[in-house]
Amino acid sequence: MAAQTVTSESRTAAVPGEALEFEDIQGLVFFGHGHLKYSRYVFLRVKDGARARAWLRTLVEREEVTTASGKQHPGLSEAKGEHALQVAFTASGLEHLGVSSEVMTTFLQEFREGMRDRRRARILGDTGGSAPEKWQFGGSDATAPHVVLVLFGRDDADLDVFHASHRERYQDALEEVFIQDADMRQGDTEPFGFRDGISFPYIKGVPTTRTPEALGLPVNAGEFILGYHNAYGQYPFSPLVPRSQDPRDLLPEVPRSQRVPGEPRPKDLGRNGTYLVIRKLRQDVKGFWKFVEENSRVPGKSAEENEANKELLAAKLMGRWKSGAPLALCPLKDDPKLGEDATGNNHFQFGDDPHGMKCPLSSHVRRANPRDTLVEDPQESTRLTARHLIIRRGRPYRDTLPQGEEEQGLMFVALNTNIGRQFEFIQQTWMNNPKFNDLYDSKDPIAGDNYDPEYPEDDPKDYTAVVPGVPMRQRISGLPRFVHMRGGDYFFLPGIKALRYLGSERAR
Ligand code: HEM
Repeated sequence: MAAQTVTSESRTAAVPGEALEFEDIQGLVFFGHGHLKYSRYVFLRVKDGARARAWLRTLVEREEVTTASGKQHPGLSEAKGEHALQVAFTASGLEHLGVSSEVMTTFLQEFREGMRDRRRARILGDTGGSAPEKWQFGGSDATAPHVVLVLFGRDDADLDVFHASHRERYQDALEEVFIQDADMRQGDTEPFGFRDGISFPYIKGVPTTRTPEALGLPVNAGEFILGYHNAYGQYPFSPLVPRSQDPRDLLPEVPRSQRVPGEPRPKDLGRNGTYLVIRKLRQDVKGFWKFVEENSRVPGKSAEENEANKELLAAKLMGRWKSGAPLALCPLKDDPKLGEDATGNNHFQFGDDPHGMKCPLSSHVRRANPRDTLVEDPQESTRLTARHLIIRRGRPYRDTLPQGEEEQGLMFVALNTNIGRQFEFIQQTWMNNPKFNDLYDSKDPIAGDNYDPEYPEDDPKDYTAVVPGVPMRQRISGLPRFVHMRGGDYFFLPGIKALRYLGSERAR
C-alpha cells in the first residue's frame, strides 16, 4: 500500500500508562482515518474455511491491515496512506474459520449471542420496525455476516477500484452479503445537521493532539484494548487458546498475573484486539425537524425569532448546538467559534447545572455521558461514568432507495472491551431508560427507542422531552422515534498476531 507515514506531529505526551503495542493494534482503535473521506463496509460470509484462512494469511503477510503504528515510526503514528483497511469477525465467522468451541466459550457472551439475539434486541430497543427480522443484514441466519472488511479511500471511484482488487482475492473464499458506503463529504456533520466526533475518551499511554482539558479523566487502556488493565485495575476478559491449539507459537502469553499456578498456561487471542459494535441507524431527518419546528413555533413571532426558537429546541434535545458548541457553556445562543475549538468545545461539566436549565438532563449528550452528575458527588460521578465510555467511529450514509427517495443515517461504530458494561449500558440504562437521573417518562430524544407510530402495539407509551427553562419548563409529549435500526452485529477486531493465528492452518 502506498503510504506516506505521518508521525505524531503535534501530539502531546501521553498520560503515563501501560506501554501499548501499537504495531499490533488495528488503526481504527486510535484513528477515524479522517483523511480518507470515503469508506465501505463489506459484510461477508465464509464459503470455504480453508480458503478464507489463506485469504487472511495473505492480508497479514502483505501487511495490508492498517495498524496504529508505522514500521519506521515506532509508537503511535498514523500512516496517512491512500487507503486503509480493517478486518473483524462475528462469533459465527470465527467458528467458520475453525476456532474451536473450547476457545469460543472464552469470548464475551454478548459477542457470542450476537446483536440479533432476542434478549440483546430487547436490551437495545431493537423492537417494532427496528426488530432484527426487519433488518437489511444481520437479522437472520441468511444475512448474518461472518466478516466485515472496512475499506477507506479518497473518493468513490478510488474505493471501487480498491474494493474490486480485494474482491478478486476473496471471491472464492467469501461471499458478500451486504455492502454499505458511508462518507464524510459533509465533514464532521451527521445527518440531523450537528457536528459529530467531538468527545473522545482520554486513554492512558496514548499521545493525543487534544489538550487534557478537552478530554476529562484519563482512563486505563484496557477499557478499549484487550490485554491491558481496565477501569477496575483488572485485565478485561480476553479470549484464550489452549497451548496445544497454538503449535506454531503465534499468540502472545497471557499476562503473568493471569496464570494459574500448576495449570498449563493458555495463549492470549484477545491481546491488542477489541470488540466492534456496528449498527446501521436510519435517521428520520424530515420527521426530526418537523417535530422541532412544530414544538418551537410561537404564533405571532417573526420568522427570524421562530427560526432561533427552532435552533434552540434542537440544541436542547442534542445538548450541543449544530456548530458543536456545548449548551453547558453557551446555553442561550450558538457560539460557532467555540464549536470549532477542539479544546473549548469539550471542556465542560454539568455540575453547575443540576436541573438542566442550560443543558437538559434528557439531552443526548448528557445522557450518553453524564460526566460529573451521575450521582451526588462529582468526583465519584466522574469515576463512575468513566466505566461506561466508548470510542465512536461512526460515519454518515446516504442511500438512494428504489423509488428514488433518499435514506440517510449513521453507520454507528463503537469500540470497547466489555460490550455489556460499555456500549449496551449506555444504550439501555442511560439512553432508553425512562427513569434516568431525575426523569421518569423520558428517553433519549435523539437516539432513544421512543414511540414508533408505525408500531403502536410495540410500546404505546407516550414519552416526553423535558426542557427546563425560565419562567416555564417545556414538556413535549408524543416524542416519536427518530432513529431506526437497519442492521448490524458485534465483531471481534483482532490484533495483528491474532489475525495471523486465525489465518493459520492449525491443530484443533
Ligand atoms: C443516529 C444516531 C445518533 C446521532 C445522530 C448521534 C449524534 C451525536 C452527536 C451530534 C454528538 C455530539 C458530538 C460529540 O460529542 O462527538 C454525540 C455524542 C455522543 N453520542 Fe451520539 N448519536 C447517535 C447515536 C448514538 C448511540 C447509539 C450511542 C451509544 C449507545 C451514542 C453515544 C454518544 C456518546 C457517548 C457521545 C459523547 C458524549 C460526551 O462524551 O459528551 N450516540 N452523538
